[in-house]
Amino acid sequence: MPVPASRLTSILHRTPWIPPVAVSGEGIYVTLDDGRRVIDGVGGAAVACLGTSHPKVVQAVKDQVDTLPYIYNMQLSNQPAEELAQNLIASSNGVFELVSFASGGSEAMEGVIKLGRQFFFETGQPQRTNYIARHLSFHGNTLSTVALAYHPSRRLPYAGIVDNEHFHHVSPAYAARFQRQGETEEQYVERLRQELEDKFIELGPDTVIGFVAETVVGATTGVVPAPKGYFKAMKAVCNKYGALFILDEVMSGMGRMGTLHAWQSFGDGAEPDIQAVAKGLGGGYASIGAVLMSKKIATGIRGASGLSKHGHTYQANPLACAASLAVQKAITEENLLDNITKQGKLMGELLHEHLQSPNALAAPYTFDVRGGGGFWGIEFDFEGPGGERVDLKGKQFAMDVQAKSLENGLIIMAFAGGANLEGTKGDHCILSPAYNVTSDEVKRIVELFVKSVEDVLRESFIS
Ligand SMILES: Cc1ncc(COP(=O)(O)O)c(C=O)c1O
Repeated sequence: MPVPASRLTSILHRTPWIPPVAVSGEGIYVTLDDGRRVIDGVGGAAVACLGTSHPKVVQAVKDQVDTLPYIYNMQLSNQPAEELAQNLIASSNGVFELVSFASGGSEAMEGVIKLGRQFFFETGQPQRTNYIARHLSFHGNTLSTVALAYHPSRRLPYAGIVDNEHFHHVSPAYAARFQRQGETEEQYVERLRQELEDKFIELGPDTVIGFVAETVVGATTGVVPAPKGYFKAMKAVCNKYGALFILDEVMSGMGRMGTLHAWQSFGDGAEPDIQAVAKGLGGGYASIGAVLMSKKIATGIRGASGLSKHGHTYQANPLACAASLAVQKAITEENLLDNITKQGKLMGELLHEHLQSPNALAAPYTFDVRGGGGFWGIEFDFEGPGGERVDLKGKQFAMDVQAKSLENGLIIMAFAGGANLEGTKGDHCILSPAYNVTSDEVKRIVELFVKSVEDVLRESFIS
């Protein structure tokens, strides 16, 4: 009998298990090499915002392969890249003025780090060499983005070579875990604002390049929006000391929260000086990210070198830009921000109902259901009443739910270690379906997810 292809691999995988092989996709369904057809409730990694077979995007990619698949941007520009940049600027209502492209989120954030430094280097403030970001954040997997972010287990293997001199951290904005008893939302925001200001003062305010945050935190803590007023307060500190206010919307941007930019709905409308986007930009049809620059940055750079000092071979790749342009046009033409807002609301309601209503099996262990738009996080906790009934046998609950979901026909994302600063506690799952998901599909996703949570619970109850 032939060994299934999924058992043989020459890839050094990112999972402790050998992942099943996907062979084709249609809408939000993925067919595996064992013939199973599973539903993707999370768009890969919150990427596939149109599913995998949007006819117009597929056609755009095919047309671009026929026309011009590659050109190098140190020699020539190309039409899809120019048009995509114009589209991104036009849709920002004057907030952004220039764009530079990358091949994904980490590269975009690496570009952000270098752009912030280039800006001050070229505009007469070369003493600015420090970045401030937050604990329990994720900004990518290159060495500088690992240093910029802070998540203990993610940086552990690299701690010996991570730059701790130029990257500094303040507390996360995560009310469910870190707002103090008796503290109002306003007081919590003020405490975080003061902490940032203190960090500026400690480092020397005129040494700070910028403050960097995910508008809605994704992987590390599991879809955590900041308290109201937080981004306005943090931006005010940056403005006070002449530093940049920088947002990482690699995961939460380009429509994921129901608005094109997450700061428009979940960030107090606080316009960033620089912003990174990626996942929803290309929707998985191509590997692409982008750095969006405000007028302030554009003016500064134009008045100095006038060019990007940072680049890669596949930057502004015509194939990636053509795919991304078609994705962005489809989001607008098909009114998909409205759809994902509506379907996301339904998803949130169903998750609350089936996981948190008093008679729900998972209620004692569902610490929080949160999110918005098409981005939902479900956090579990076994330290409260009822926890003594469960024996996880040393396993991480969320990871088990991810495995069980796949068995039940649903792809989700699960992470551990977002509930304390040490990264040793916390289990959460993420759902982030395509923006063109239907109500029936949302119901099916939640049904399969809740079933998987309950299956794992039943297997873990002490009899
Ligand atoms: C907020 C954030 N920044 C950066 C990245 C890195 O993006 P990529 O995996 O495309 O390099 C991610 C990926 O999940 C992310 O969520």
